[in-house]
Amino acid sequence: MNEIQTCIDFLKAIFIALHNATHAMPVTEGSMTEDFYLKLLQEYVDQGGGERTGIWWDESRIPLSSIDKSVSQLLDLTGKKAVVTGGAGANLGQACVNRLAGLGADVAVVDLKPAVAAASGQQRWATPPDAHGVAAKAAKRWGTNVIGVEGNALEWDGIDAILRECNDRLGGFDILVNNATMTSVGDFASMSHDQLDNAIRGTLAGPIYATRLALEYMLPQGSGRIINICSAAGETAMPGLTMYGAMKQGLSTFTRFLGKEVGRAGVHVNGVAPGSMWGPDRTPPVDGISGLYPRSRTAIQRYELPEEVANMVAFLASDAASAMTGVMVDMSGGQTI
Ligand SMILES: NC(=O)c1ccc[n+]([C@@H]2O[C@H](COP(=O)([O-])OP(=O)(O)OC[C@H]3O[C@@H](n4cnc5c(N)ncnc54)[C@H](O)[C@@H]3O)[C@@H](O)[C@H]2O)c1
Repeated sequence: MNEIQTCIDFLKAIFIALHNATHAMPVTEGSMTEDFYLKLLQEYVDQGGGERTGIWWDESRIPLSSIDKSVSQLLDLTGKKAVVTGGAGANLGQACVNRLAGLGADVAVVDLKPAVAAASGQQRWATPPDAHGVAAKAAKRWGTNVIGVEGNALEWDGIDAILRECNDRLGGFDILVNNATMTSVGDFASMSHDQLDNAIRGTLAGPIYATRLALEYMLPQGSGRIINICSAAGETAMPGLTMYGAMKQGLSTFTRFLGKEVGRAGVHVNGVAPGSMWGPDRTPPVDGISGLYPRSRTAIQRYELPEEVANMVAFLASDAASAMTGVMVDMSGGQTI
C-alpha cells in the first residue's frame, strides 16, 4: 500500500511540474480539485483548443429524445436509405437486405451483372446474382422501396457510379453495408501477382473506396452509418486464408480508426466479424478450407445463420447503436475466443 501511495505521489509531482511549465494557471497538490479541472478545460477552450482540434464537447448531440423510447422504436429504420453491396448474395447479402427492409428501410441491392459474375471465375453460388429479382422479392415482402442496382462495388469508378444511382433513385443515402468481397485463397507462396492484387483490391481496397465515396454524401449531411463486413478469419490465422484474413484484419483496423476520425462529423463506422455462415437451403462445402475452418473452432458447434449476423448489421444501422462507432463486433459464435 505504501509503495502504491509513493507511486501516486511521484506521478502527481511529475504532473504538477509538467503542468506548471506549460500553463498559465499554476497548480499545487491541494488545488487539484474538480474546480481546478473545470478551470483548466475553460483555459483550453479560451485558447481556441476546441476549435483547433474539433473534438470539443457538444451537448446538442446527446440523443435526449431516445430516453423515452423503447428499443424496438429505436430500431425502426423507416425513411432511411440503405445500400448493401453484394446484396444479391445468397448468404449475408440477402440477409442484410431483408433485415434492413424488415425494419422499414428503403434498400438498394447492389451486385454484379449476372454475366460479369459468371465470367469472374469467383462466383460463390450455383446461380449468378440477380439484384433485380432479390429487390423485387424483398419489396413485396416488406413493403418498402427496394431497388436492384448492377455494377462493380469494389472498384473506384464502379462504386462511384453505383452510389450516385442509389442516391438518386432512393432519394438519399444513410446506410452503407460493405458486404461484397472478392478474394484469393490457397498457398500464399504460390500465389500469382494477379491473385495477390485480387485479394488486396477485392477484400480491402474495394470497401475502403466505397467508404471514402460514401463520406461525400454523409459528411455534408452530418449523419450516416457505415458497416463493414470483416471476418473471424482476420483474428485467427489459418493456412490458405493468409491473404483473406490479413486483408479482413486490415479492414477491421480501418473501421476502428475511421470510426474515431469521422465520429465527430456524425458518421458512425462499425463492423461485424462473422465466423462461418451457412443457411439451411445452402449446401455447405465438405472439403477444403471453408468446410474445415469452423469445425474445430466454434463454441456454439454449428454454422451461424447469415440472418443472425444481419441482426447485428441492422442494430448498428439503427438509433439503438447511437453511442457506437469504431467498434468491431465478433459474430463468430465463439470461434475467435
Ligand atoms: N460465408 C462466410 O461464412 C463468411 C464468413 C466470414 C465473413 N464473411 C464475409 O461476409 C461477406 C458476405 O459473404 P457471403 O459468403 O455471405 O457472400 P454473399 O452470399 O453475401 O455473396 C456475396 C455477393 O457479393 C457479390 N459481389 C462479389 N463481388 C462483387 C463486386 N465486385 N461488386 C458487387 N457485388 C459483388 C457476389 O456476386 C455475391 O452475390 C463477405 O464480406 C465475406 O468475406 C463470410
